[in-house]
Amino acid sequence: MKMSSAAQLVLHHLFWCSLIQLSLLTKLSGAETITVTTNGETIEGSPQPAVEHVEEVITPIVTDPGRMRLVQIDPVEVGHIRRIEIEPGHFYEMKTVAVNPPVFLIPDFLTLEECERIKSLAQEKGLEKSRTVLRHSVDQAVDTNLDPYFNKDTFTKFDEDGNQFLNIAEARKALTYVEGIGNMSDQAFTYFIDIVVDLDSDRFLSDLEFRRIPLIMTKISEWIANHQDLEKWDPDDLARMKKGPDRLSHQVWMKRPVYDESKNITNRLIGLTGLHPDIINTSEELQVVHYTPGGHYHAHHDSTNFIADRPCSHTAHLYPPDPTRHLHSARICRYMTVLYYLADTEEGGETAFPAADNETFSESTMVKDNKTIEPSNLSMHCKDANLYVRPKKRMAVMWYNHFFDHNTGWMGDRNLFAFHGGCDVIKGEKWIANNWINVDNNYEIQMKFHYESLHKTDEPVINTDITPKAAETTEDQKSPPDETEQETPHNAAGESIKSEENVVQLKQEL
Ligand SMILES: *[C@@H]1O[C@H](CO)[C@@H](O)[C@H](O)[C@H]1NC(C)=O
Ligand SMILES: *[C@@H]1O[C@H](CO)[C@@H](O)[C@H](O)[C@H]1NC(C)=O
Ligand SMILES: *[C@@H]1O[C@H](CO)[C@@H](O)[C@H](O)[C@H]1NC(C)=O
Ligand SMILES: *[C@@H]1O[C@H](CO)[C@@H](O)[C@H](O)[C@H]1NC(C)=O
Ligand SMILES: *[C@@H]1O[C@H](CO)[C@@H](O)[C@H](O)[C@H]1NC(C)=O
Ligand SMILES: *[C@@H]1O[C@H](CO)[C@@H](O)[C@H](O)[C@H]1NC(C)=O
Repeated sequence: MKMSSAAQLVLHHLFWCSLIQLSLLTKLSGAETITVTTNGETIEGSPQPAVEHVEEVITPIVTDPGRMRLVQIDPVEVGHIRRIEIEPGHFYEMKTVAVNPPVFLIPDFLTLEECERIKSLAQEKGLEKSRTVLRHSVDQAVDTNLDPYFNKDTFTKFDEDGNQFLNIAEARKALTYVEGIGNMSDQAFTYFIDIVVDLDSDRFLSDLEFRRIPLIMTKISEWIANHQDLEKWDPDDLARMKKGPDRLSHQVWMKRPVYDESKNITNRLIGLTGLHPDIINTSEELQVVHYTPGGHYHAHHDSTNFIADRPCSHTAHLYPPDPTRHLHSARICRYMTVLYYLADTEEGGETAFPAADNETFSESTMVKDNKTIEPSNLSMHCKDANLYVRPKKRMAVMWYNHFFDHNTGWMGDRNLFAFHGGCDVIKGEKWIANNWINVDNNYEIQMKFHYESLHKTDEPVINTDITPKAAETTEDQKSPPDETEQETPHNAAGESIKSEENVVQLKQEL
């Protein structure tokens, strides 16, 4: 895309207006443009009021010396730009595009090489739509070959492009064996795959979905017999087909040593977020997602709301045994999301925040131009979102899924306004990666989690993992005593040793 599609945007308004519809096209780094749209319209040039440029280093904060605290970077106001020095001499621009939740864009966060490398590693690994639990149960069911045709070898034979998936054309060839498929129209076949065969609705057959076919052969035959004519289709089937799945994409998970051997990205993320390295280092693997035209992810929350008695999934194993545990599903606890665009997308594929900086939040309805719409449905309502960001290769979008509790220095309630999703890709491909930053609202459990994950030895732990930059900051940027706690520099060594004490204490309690 680059300049040409940016130029397509015809821009009329040169003022900011917080409540009226507004959007902007800002020039950040040199000639490169990024497109951000808030509340519907687009403005050219620098946003007003004049943007403040600040050079700063985001540092973890500690008030009660030694107790680890989270950081939540102050968004200041929409349009605010910081220049942050993460690697020595290397500045990154960080622009506020929403205040509630705080959403930031960091245009040149990844290098081109990093984008390419992550994409090719993901392709090598084979992008898959994995619903782990579903896979597991199907795997258990497909333990014997009911029909020897549906085995791994047949699958491989028809996987002509060798991507570990049968696309619709490949599936069609592989399934000519099944009676009634030969004379099906292409459209009917696509529906058939979507509705009957494709468990995870990604429009590709994994080998698991292929090997499962004999188990559902009766259902398949009945379905084919009843759906020869599109006109005679069951209205529910048609509705389901039209609605489409909530998520239409392929994804793959990657471990840090695989995609970030040099630790450059991880260290940059530590510098960007200002969070303690233990939090970043123990967070989820990177998720790489690939969308093709039609691909989308309807708006959702990345983190589950706090519910007593339900542990976070990343720390569930650390809670005292609870015989009723199986009755409650675990929560997904993600303090922040950092999303990277690994490619430009020709058209569509925006990351949308329907309720960014909105007065009130409603997941199910939203009134726009006197019409009631369903804001989560980004296929229909991408451009009705208060904020949407156009994919731009190398850019990171960072936001907080939770509030920061200033009293405890730890994670507060979930921020409902962080509701977001991916709009339909219209043309081209969309490649993104997600770094979710996991924090348990129970401080002691999170500390124990760090200990268990990073230091499984009996040795006392003294962290040496604060990057030199952060350590220098402690010396260089001593804040005057009257500054707010957000600016208080942190003492790396003191913090780490004290967190370790907390962990030991906790181990005794449990
Ligand atoms: C496909 O073939 C079956 C049986 O051979 C027949 O009943 C059915 O009407 C055909 N469907 C179409 C769309 O031609
Ligand atoms: C999105 O909206 C369109 C048009 O109203 C509708 O056909 C479709 O079913 C909706 N999708 C979802 C997932 O609600
Ligand atoms: C955390 O990750 C960074 C970057 O990969 C690394 O330099 C540091 O040693 C890690 N710290 C721990 C405690 O694993
Ligand atoms: C990591 O960063 C260093 C310093 O900027 C650079 O020299 C090195 O090439 C980077 N490594 C990779 C794999 O990008
Ligand atoms: C945004 O606020 C308006 C006015 O309070 C409300 O009608 C609308 O539903 C809100 N939008 C969302 C997505 O919650
Ligand atoms: C919405 O409806 C009200 C009352 O019916 C009307 O006064 C107003 O002009 C309408 N607004 C829009 C944007 O259509």
